[in-house]
Amino acid sequence: MTYKVLNNITVKNINNGVISNVSTDLLVIPVNNKTISSDEFKEIDKKSNGYLLKSSKEALNPGNQNHLITSINGITAKKILLVKDLNEKDDIYLWLNKYKYIAKIANSMNCKNLSILDGQVYPNGKNQLWFLEMVSRSIESGAYIFSTTKNKTAKTEKVGKEIISSNVSLKNVTLITSKLTSAQLKKAKISVLRGFSVGEGINTAKHLGDLPANHATPKIIEKIVKNTTKEYQGLKVKSLNEKDLARLKMGSYLSVSKGSDEPPRMIIIEYNGGKKNEKPIALVGKGITFDTGGISIKPSPGMDEMKWDMCGAGTVFGVMCSLARIKADVNVIGIMACAENMPSARATKPGDVVTSMSGQTIEILNTDAEGRLVLADALTYVGKYKPSYVIDMATLTGAVVVALGSHASGVMANNQFLADKIIESGEETGDRAWQLPLWNEYKSCTRTNFADLANIGGGREAGTIHAAAFLSKFAEDYKWAHMDIAASAWSSSPKGGTGRPVSLICDLILNKKLK
Ligand code: BES
Ligand code: MN
Ligand code: ZN
Repeated sequence: MTYKVLNNITVKNINNGVISNVSTDLLVIPVNNKTISSDEFKEIDKKSNGYLLKSSKEALNPGNQNHLITSINGITAKKILLVKDLNEKDDIYLWLNKYKYIAKIANSMNCKNLSILDGQVYPNGKNQLWFLEMVSRSIESGAYIFSTTKNKTAKTEKVGKEIISSNVSLKNVTLITSKLTSAQLKKAKISVLRGFSVGEGINTAKHLGDLPANHATPKIIEKIVKNTTKEYQGLKVKSLNEKDLARLKMGSYLSVSKGSDEPPRMIIIEYNGGKKNEKPIALVGKGITFDTGGISIKPSPGMDEMKWDMCGAGTVFGVMCSLARIKADVNVIGIMACAENMPSARATKPGDVVTSMSGQTIEILNTDAEGRLVLADALTYVGKYKPSYVIDMATLTGAVVVALGSHASGVMANNQFLADKIIESGEETGDRAWQLPLWNEYKSCTRTNFADLANIGGGREAGTIHAAAFLSKFAEDYKWAHMDIAASAWSSSPKGGTGRPVSLICDLILNKKLK
């Protein structure tokens, strides 16, 4: 099942400035020079005897608090939230944060519904449609609160200054536009549906990541994914078990799950909304449901965070759900390479040599470099679909946390056009990515005396690139990019999945940037 937070997000277009009868728990007004001179604003300001304009002007003063909650007699909205708006020059991430924050305020006030007035001010180069899509996506994803493994009676509490809601109250959101023609309104509705659907994909990815590893084993994930085919007929799911993987000679993939009592699953999701003869775009996600490191075991502090080591696969699932919900006219194959990495008497040992599906043998010098081992075989397998482009997403290296921090996912590619488009979609959505080089010099590090390749190399140098260099040996037959999302896919404080890079990938696919 996909993970849904809101019931609906709709557009309400107002033609004659009658906003005082909008029935809502909370009416949000982004305060800027355009909104305060709009008919809608003037109408409610009149009812407030000028109080709204006065407090908005105060809110516009630099240095003043940037939001104010109030209520006004004579208007139907129960409460009004004035938020100081951003301006054209502000970075996109600030716009995303603003609307995620508004969703959080609404939950903390126990609102069931929320109406937001179009601010009419957008970042440079962006228009109203971009804005409506961004707000819908940010509100849906901002309203998400993980509660699956919590006692259902848990209540909202105040921790310090912060209000922590333990349940989502928000159900319906209305975006209020004014004076749109019917053609414009139709377009606006499409943008809102798109943003809402991508927001759901983000939440689906977050939720799969946030689930504890004992609640999201490869077999449980298989069941969750198979259930979505009931929801969306457009998705076809096939799953390969241990025997299937062995039949396909995926010795590299199987070496990872060998020490675990939980059997692996490689889940393949097909979505064919495009032309019959159009080659599919392929997405491949690392799905390590828990990464102990195996025999090369990790230190205990922070090891719980390795439940998020399946966020690449979670992104694939989230994107596929969004595409099906939107009924996008594209062909996409998604692969979720799921396995658990555990030490045991049966586990792979450092120095063991395995044979990958590609025929290349691999000396496993470090069992903690396991993501590249499942991906190697998944990348070989996906070649049979003759994909136009392949993008893999993986929480692959601690080194990318050091290199880029959490603001950008790392990108490495054997095709510059593909890398450029990924970075462009990152800019467009505020889900940013940045490129690292993948020159041939880096590729020699995988040499060993005992196999065709070693799974680690390069020592302390450029760990992120060396991991990508290893993967590149399995992706030579097509145009390929690798995204290292180890820093961007979840946050350590506060702990939680981010659903990245679902919005980047959706933008890339939905806006046909790869044509
Ligand atoms: N899943 C980890 C990467 C990771 C580490 C993500 C910390 C987020 C935070 C991956 O499987 C791993 O263990 N990578 C090793 C590779 C090394 C053994 C070459 C790493 O980065 O330390
Ligand atoms: Mn590892
Ligand atoms: Zn890992």
